Amino acid sequence: MSQSLQAPRGTYDVLPEQSAQRALLLEVAAEEFELAGYARIETPVFEDTSVFARGVGESTEIVSKEMYTFADQGDRSLTLRPEGTAAIARAFGEHGMHKLPAPVKLWYSGPFFRQEAPQAGRYRQFFQIGAEAFGSDDPALDAESVMLLDRILRRAGVGQYRLRISSLGSAPERRAYSDQLKSFLREHDAQLSEEVRERIELNPLRAFDSKHPGTIEVMNSAPKLLDVISGEDRDHFDAVLALLDAAGVGYEIDPTLVRGLDYYTRTVFEFTSDKLGAQSGVGGGGRYDGLVEMLGGPATPGVGWAAGIERILQAGELPGARTPGELDVFIALEPGADRPAAFALAAQLQESGVAAVIELAGRSLKGQLKQAARANALRVVIMGGERGQYDAAIKNFDSGEQRELAGLSSDDYLERIIESLTEDMQSATPEGFSE
Ligand code: HAM
Repeated sequence: MSQSLQAPRGTYDVLPEQSAQRALLLEVAAEEFELAGYARIETPVFEDTSVFARGVGESTEIVSKEMYTFADQGDRSLTLRPEGTAAIARAFGEHGMHKLPAPVKLWYSGPFFRQEAPQAGRYRQFFQIGAEAFGSDDPALDAESVMLLDRILRRAGVGQYRLRISSLGSAPERRAYSDQLKSFLREHDAQLSEEVRERIELNPLRAFDSKHPGTIEVMNSAPKLLDVISGEDRDHFDAVLALLDAAGVGYEIDPTLVRGLDYYTRTVFEFTSDKLGAQSGVGGGGRYDGLVEMLGGPATPGVGWAAGIERILQAGELPGARTPGELDVFIALEPGADRPAAFALAAQLQESGVAAVIELAGRSLKGQLKQAARANALRVVIMGGERGQYDAAIKNFDSGEQRELAGLSSDDYLERIIESLTEDMQSATPEGFSE
């Protein structure tokens, strides 16, 4: 026997019993996106590698370690998208969307790919929903974006979630701060983890994310970017917080909040849930005022977020473990019955919007009736008889009523069954069956 194959490491199958909840979450999210004026965008699952290398940043872990990058037959370097924002900013520039009335609000959902070490809540293919708004640097857009995710998490029944928020200021402030942080880290390098030490020059801010005890201790007394943010950046942050206060959205200001992507400016935020384990991030985002320009488009501010649907589902409580679909008609066959006619009957019923299946597994009549019950059928049509002398019985499981048809000719066989089924359906649903 050949070796049995499995889904690739870090990926998973969505089985039928899980699909109803996912579909419901996507429905809820789509509804909230549309209510907030976001329109759907879809971009390819792979992009030129430079979209992410430039957009997300070479120094990030995503770009330096986690991307699925490959050369196509034309020797172009392509990458399975590890996130959506850079790809959407690319599309925004490419399609001249800056000419549309601002803000241009876009939402998306789909699979994303990162070659991370798999663990609970962390996959190599995962699904995100996300929202990006371009063309305005108004703090109200930041607040609206945060509140949109807050609303979706609430509707998804996500338990014990918290919002952390901070500001990264603008590029010049961040550069000056980054130099200050680098010297601070160099002064304390003996206490830092090897990984952090190696990345002092490349990405000193990531030291705030370390779980290494020595590093954590050092970072407690490290200078914080939020403390040096001033002027318009400070005003912007204060205005975002004031709007969240006015809307009654709770948050914690966390000056150590760093996000693993380089494009952020000003506001950054993250929702975490205590119902999740180590991978507690449900969703996060922020402002990225330089991103569109970085990818060759016109200078355009933007703000948005993405959230992982696996984590929302895990921390959430959407109603509806799957209720098996109701089957309108199960078509059962007696030995010797006209199988092609039964097959045609199923097709005709399906075409007119009636959920119908025909026995296909070679069961005995008794087995078929059992299967009809298992499939949650409302009624069963038992087809029998022989050429020129067909008969059929229609049994309604709900009412217990049974209709018998005998001595049917080949010509009017199906018509008579459909007539009888329609009568039965109409007596069950007085408004009539949708045709
Ligand atoms: P991110 O924080 O990298 O941000 O990812 C957002 C969310 O995607 C995370 O909070 C988490 O729920 C989920 N996620 C990320 N990686 C994985 C994984 N390996 N397995 C399962 N879930 C995962 C972004 O992607 C930015 N594009 C967000 C953004 C949009 N910023 C501005 N606009």
